Amino acid sequence: MRIDIISAVPDLMLSPFRTSILKRAMEKGQAEVVFHDIRNWSSNNYRQIDDAPYGGGAGMVMMVEPLDKCISELKSQRHYDEIIYLTPDGETLNQKTANTLSIKENLIFVCGHYKGIDQRVRDLHITKEISIGDYVLTGGELAACVLADAVIRLLPGVLNDEQSALTDSFQDNLLSPPIYTRPEVYKGLKVPDVLLSGNFSKIEQWRHDEALRITAERRPDLLD
Ligand code: ADE
Repeated sequence: MRIDIISAVPDLMLSPFRTSILKRAMEKGQAEVVFHDIRNWSSNNYRQIDDAPYGGGAGMVMMVEPLDKCISELKSQRHYDEIIYLTPDGETLNQKTANTLSIKENLIFVCGHYKGIDQRVRDLHITKEISIGDYVLTGGELAACVLADAVIRLLPGVLNDEQSALTDSFQDNLLSPPIYTRPEVYKGLKVPDVLLSGNFSKIEQWRHDEALRITAERRPDLLD
């Protein structure tokens, strides 16, 4: 999978892709993430990429031309399955969307800054708009990192234990059951006997029951 991320501040996103699992996925060639600084497509000497909104109002708007040029150049090089704009106005990211995107070949993520992007970029290029929650960030960059992480970890071979993505919270609309590792007793708190029993069908049953209980308690909407 290749993800092209277009941003006014690409440096903001370097560290998540230079560490740990995402770094390994890139080194192994399972994912390629390419950053594009939108200022490189600005047509004036000041490398301007934003301007005041027509009709007045607070904040600046990311100009149509640099974004259009950048996206058009990328589109001339390969086919993109989705061109995604990260915005609080988008559909809220969930595991199903991450699963769907993880089987795509090429994606573009567009990060907005200031007040957002000129509507005509959306009209011309954007195929999907995604929000990572009902709150407003300073820009789409952190949201792009969240989305990239959620998608890349699902690519075959990225997680060491192939099973672990399958047993995630949300993968079957259930939250995760409690998990434990050594020691057996800590400050009087004991690991449930069933997990020490070696009886795998009982363990599976317990995990499923606990997942149901926790989901009903915390996120009953998932069970509807
Ligand atoms: N940009 C600013 N806030 C955002 C959010 N909540 N989700 C996605 N992109 C954003």
